[in-house]
Amino acid sequence: MRLLTLLKRIHKPVYTCSQPCLSSHASSGQLASGGQALISGSSRELVQSLVSQVEVRTAFISEEEEAALLRELEPGLKKKRYEYDHWDDAIHGYRETERVRWTTTCEEVLNRVRSVAFPEGSPLLGPVHVLDLDEKGYIKPHIDSVKFCGNTIAGLSLLSDCIMRLVKEDANNEWLDLMLPRRSLYIMRDQARYNFTHEILKDEDSVFNGQRVPRQRRISVICRNLPG
Ligand code: OGA
Ligand code: MN
Repeated sequence: MRLLTLLKRIHKPVYTCSQPCLSSHASSGQLASGGQALISGSSRELVQSLVSQVEVRTAFISEEEEAALLRELEPGLKKKRYEYDHWDDAIHGYRETERVRWTTTCEEVLNRVRSVAFPEGSPLLGPVHVLDLDEKGYIKPHIDSVKFCGNTIAGLSLLSDCIMRLVKEDANNEWLDLMLPRRSLYIMRDQARYNFTHEILKDEDSVFNGQRVPRQRRISVICRNLPG
């Protein structure tokens, strides 16, 4: 089965009525190099219970590596049109592709992602998933298919900062917001991957710890492993 067919299933949306707000006991985790928190959540306990399952690594790739990825991806993406208004889609304003073979620079970046994100020897989904959200695009809350993807999801963010929101599937007052700076890597595993929906906020909702995070066009490059 081609990855894109599979992604239709990965992307089956789960609609929740998540309305997280920054309550007085919102609490923060991992810090960026400048000291700002990259993870904010509904409670300190929740942040602490998930720190080992959610990671954000800032400046994971250099500007040159980002440019190399873009050079490789843009020609193929530009041939596609952004898709909007499919009511049953988990994603709005996007185009996507998959890629198996990469130039050396890009392959090195991806190997670095694989080596930090996945346990050694963990079988990976062969093709890497590339998702291009336009500036109006966003990803609705969903959980990646457990049938087709394993316990770990790792993604690079190119071109724009954004906010990824995790909301506990059976308790939507429990949530975590991740600030994903441009050129960062996020890793989501285990409970964070199975028991929480994840979404990428649209520009107008893009506020982290009270601070506005403008959302431009964003391309993610996502590696996944296979179910055990
Ligand atoms: C997905 C997804 C997140 C991202 O494609 O299933 O959740 O970083 N993508 O683009
Ligand atoms: Mn997903």
